[in-house]
Amino acid sequence: PPATPQYRPAYHFTPAAHWMNDPNGMVYYQGTYHLFFQYYPKGMVWGPMHWGHATSPDMVRWQEQPIALYPDSLGYIFSGSAVVDANNTAGFGKNAMVAIFTHHDPKGEKAGTSTYQHQSLAYSLDGGKTWQKYAQNPVLKNPGIKDFRDPKVSWHAPSKQWVMTLATLDRITFYSSPNLKDWTKLSEFGEKLGAHGGVWECPDLFPLTLNGKTYWVLIVNLNPGGPNSGSATQYFVGQFDGKTFTPLNDKTKWADYGPDEYAGVTWNNTGNRRLFLGWMSNWEYANQVPTSPWRSAMTTPRELGLRQVGSEIYLTSQPAAELRNITGKTTTLQNVTAKEPTDLTARLNSSTDKHRLTLSTNQLASFELVMSNAAGEELVLGYDQAANQYFIDRSKAGKNSFSPKFVGRAVAPRLSTAVGTELTLYFDAASVELFADQGLTVMTSIFFANKPLTAIKLRSAEGITFQQISSTPLTTEAAS
Ligand code: FRU
Repeated sequence: PPATPQYRPAYHFTPAAHWMNDPNGMVYYQGTYHLFFQYYPKGMVWGPMHWGHATSPDMVRWQEQPIALYPDSLGYIFSGSAVVDANNTAGFGKNAMVAIFTHHDPKGEKAGTSTYQHQSLAYSLDGGKTWQKYAQNPVLKNPGIKDFRDPKVSWHAPSKQWVMTLATLDRITFYSSPNLKDWTKLSEFGEKLGAHGGVWECPDLFPLTLNGKTYWVLIVNLNPGGPNSGSATQYFVGQFDGKTFTPLNDKTKWADYGPDEYAGVTWNNTGNRRLFLGWMSNWEYANQVPTSPWRSAMTTPRELGLRQVGSEIYLTSQPAAELRNITGKTTTLQNVTAKEPTDLTARLNSSTDKHRLTLSTNQLASFELVMSNAAGEELVLGYDQAANQYFIDRSKAGKNSFSPKFVGRAVAPRLSTAVGTELTLYFDAASVELFADQGLTVMTSIFFANKPLTAIKLRSAEGITFQQISSTPLTTEAAS
């Protein structure tokens, strides 16, 4: 087999070649997770958007499929969602898979109009393999709002209607429909709430329960204006009554504080599980990252939940259980005390840069975990007690001159007030995802080391003891 190109991830989805951005149309149907994605099949930078397509039995092992949607006379195919129309409300057929997406007309944009984004439909009668555009597109015409896009549609059982959550410049607009074709405006949300450092994009709305009570979570992606600059995913926790979203309060919260999770939304049709996937990049430098012949990967799949800390209710994101499908043999160390720099490489049998590391301590203190290679490149991550922040510092972790906006050190507040913690780190060829405090604080960061970072060291000036540290290689190749 041909050699794996440098930076090709082992277990994060990438297209074989060319440009990818947002995950689109994520829907589970008859044992298969469908992932569509913003795709430009003729280039390595953003261009006329198509919907690429991939399928998986477990959101971890992906098979790329033929392109699902091509640009047409109404424009490029921007982001959106997909549903399974079990009751044939749209009349395309029972169990039709229906994609609801934004048509973006580049001619209208160039001409300086403000009405070049509309919502349209396409449907598949063979479980997502082949697609037809609806002949009467668009189904929701632009009312004069420049940024009018990224419809997330799902069935709202209590009010027995489809609800569309749409990003409309600086706010969310909700619409409802009995048949996916005729849409009525319900309400607006957020003009004066949340973070507004950039345009609101790629929203999502779904229920989650906490202690037997149902809450509604509204995800709003934002670009720029994220906590570590550029693109990021904020969310609100509140109630949705079929018409209006009412947040519990106006605190700005982030689903992922790292620089490299964007456009994250959740799968439709997964029952009580709420599963999330994001694009693992940032518009600040996505078009310049040094990978070839593709650009961008998706994050790991994450299962969402709610947790209360003090009087606040937060979203938690944990690596989906399916990631266990790709684990190798775990090496576990007990009671590791780091005061002097402590090299764990040999004791953890660390020889691959694609692995999961978990560290648990019953007394969190400042520490640095240093991943390095023989070339002296270092990715440093850990916790700073004085600032009460987790951090990931990629400033010495390899290539970074491709963009001045490729920020070196990213930080995230620790939200948990517990004395101890467990940190889980998922490393792949060019990325790390940090899950702290059972998913209360999450950070995703990409990096481009010139040689794999396989050496593992701990440093802690104050001293810290981890009751347990374990390392598990991750591979999607069939076990031998
Ligand atoms: C978010 C986004 C969406 C848009 C798509 C275009 O990253 O800007 O708002 O639909 O990308 O590719």
